[in-house]
Amino acid sequence: MTLIAREGPRRAVLWATDMLLGLRTARHRVPRRMDVDDAVVHTMPSREEIGGALRIFAESFDLASETRVLRRVARVFPWASVVLVRGGVVEGYCWFRVLPRKRAILLSMAARTASRGRGYGRAMLSFGLSVLRDAGIEVVDLDVEEGNEPAVRLYTSLGFARRSIDPRRKVARMRKALGP
Ligand SMILES: CC(C)(COP(=O)(O)OP(=O)(O)OC[C@H]1O[C@@H](n2cnc3c(N)ncnc32)[C@H](O)[C@@H]1OP(=O)(O)O)[C@@H](O)C(=O)NCCC(=O)NCCS
Repeated sequence: MTLIAREGPRRAVLWATDMLLGLRTARHRVPRRMDVDDAVVHTMPSREEIGGALRIFAESFDLASETRVLRRVARVFPWASVVLVRGGVVEGYCWFRVLPRKRAILLSMAARTASRGRGYGRAMLSFGLSVLRDAGIEVVDLDVEEGNEPAVRLYTSLGFARRSIDPRRKVARMRKALGP
């Protein structure tokens, strides 16, 4: 009730769906990692690493109200929460929210401002997509601002295709089907 009063019914439904799918997908909570030069990309971030990712989120987006959602998604779907760590420092993150019917959405991703253009974004996203594929996810969606050239290029190069556009917000919805 408090939650509904504070966040509204839509958010309460999202919260309940997250919790349910979090339980249903709990068997995927197995740490996965991949070396990328002198860095490591991995799932199941620690509390400190989640804090590092949220600092990058705050530095990259003016959406402070969403921090709580990102924190919750990392707790509920830790196996679909990717961080890139170099020398003990979180350099980037890539968070997915799992949806019903074998779908997921890229909730948020960013690299530290000083670390962009080094291949971290590509490494995190392609690793995250392979983790999702292995977990049986078949379709991944994302929303991106049309003018966000680096992000649009990255997504297109990894096989996301534009499906629709919200002209008012200038946001494109992109989709990628994950093959077997
Ligand atoms: C989008 C973002 C995560 C990409 O991460 P990154 O580590 O800088 O990207 P990479 O170095 O892995 O580059 C991957 C691809 O992105 C594209 N790209 C990256 N930087 C670019 C730039 N400045 N201009 C154009 N394209 C660029 C390229 O296609 C690049 O592939 P290539 O190097 O083979 O040409 C990063 O720019 C970022 O954090 N942006 C701010 C947050 C944001 O917009 N997140 C996405 C919200 S939808």
